[in-house]
Amino acid sequence: MTKKPLIISTDPGIDDAVAITIALFSAQLDVKLLAATWGNVGLDKTLANTLKLETFLQTKVPVVAGAKRPLLRKQIDASSVHGESGMAGFDFPDPDQTLLKPGIAANAIHEVVASSSEKVTLMQIGPATDFALYFRQYPGDLAKIEQLVIMGGAIGRGNWGPYSEYNVAGDPEAAQIVFSSGIKILLAPLELGHQAFITQATLQKIAKFGKTGQMLYHILTNLHDETDSDGREIYDALAAGMLLNPAMYEFKPAFLEVDTGNSKAYGASIIDFDSFFGKPNNVLVGVKVDQAVFTDWFVKAISRAN
Ligand code: RIB
Ligand code: CA
Repeated sequence: MTKKPLIISTDPGIDDAVAITIALFSAQLDVKLLAATWGNVGLDKTLANTLKLETFLQTKVPVVAGAKRPLLRKQIDASSVHGESGMAGFDFPDPDQTLLKPGIAANAIHEVVASSSEKVTLMQIGPATDFALYFRQYPGDLAKIEQLVIMGGAIGRGNWGPYSEYNVAGDPEAAQIVFSSGIKILLAPLELGHQAFITQATLQKIAKFGKTGQMLYHILTNLHDETDSDGREIYDALAAGMLLNPAMYEFKPAFLEVDTGNSKAYGASIIDFDSFFGKPNNVLVGVKVDQAVFTDWFVKAISRAN
């Protein structure tokens, strides 16, 4: 089976680190580029975290710097969830700077897509700023995008505002550019994370998987997620799961539009499953996942990384 070429836009971010690790060691994905963007913490830290993670994992996927801030709005911050460094809980090695590709994300993404003999899959597990800039700069590339898997949005309640999820609220205008691009989009909203949280017992199990399991255990036990479940909601790993084992999820087609206004609902992912607006569907929303099935997949995926 040939591996699918994949580009990840990411803001590590503890759950980003989990998703990146799973992707790097999977049998089905050929990760071509890691594009670090501002998001959970500033770009300086997300870029350093991406390099540190690969240095620890001893993988050699090129890393490129993405956007320093949202297209229009003030930058937001989630260091209360991920720690000051953005990837708290483990003493990572100094970053291997030879992994850093000069230039900006939009151009590096274009280089990978233009040189690929097959369509490229995208995964967006942070704000949409870089893919929005890329789509605007290289509209001709859209025909070579296989699909885009996004962790973001909420069917109901948000985690940044009453109706706004962090990644979408971080750059609503960029998110709207991406959701209206016309490419195939699979969405992993907050609700999937609520269903598939990883229990303490599972964390203890991965801790025994060697150095990578140990590292993931330590950063995940430092993740201050906002729920009161006894485990951890690892949202970004859900997007990786959509690429590697989509059969785990129940999907529903919907029309999604982002609230780009300035009310207290700004950044809300307005998800219309019932054609209230009479608009064509533009996203497949993951609405259901069985926790035991996800956990079993998750443990097997992490065991490959050791
Ligand atoms: O709302 C969850 C998302 O915001 C995840 O991608 C997490 O890493 C943060 O970026
Ligand atoms: Ca993230």
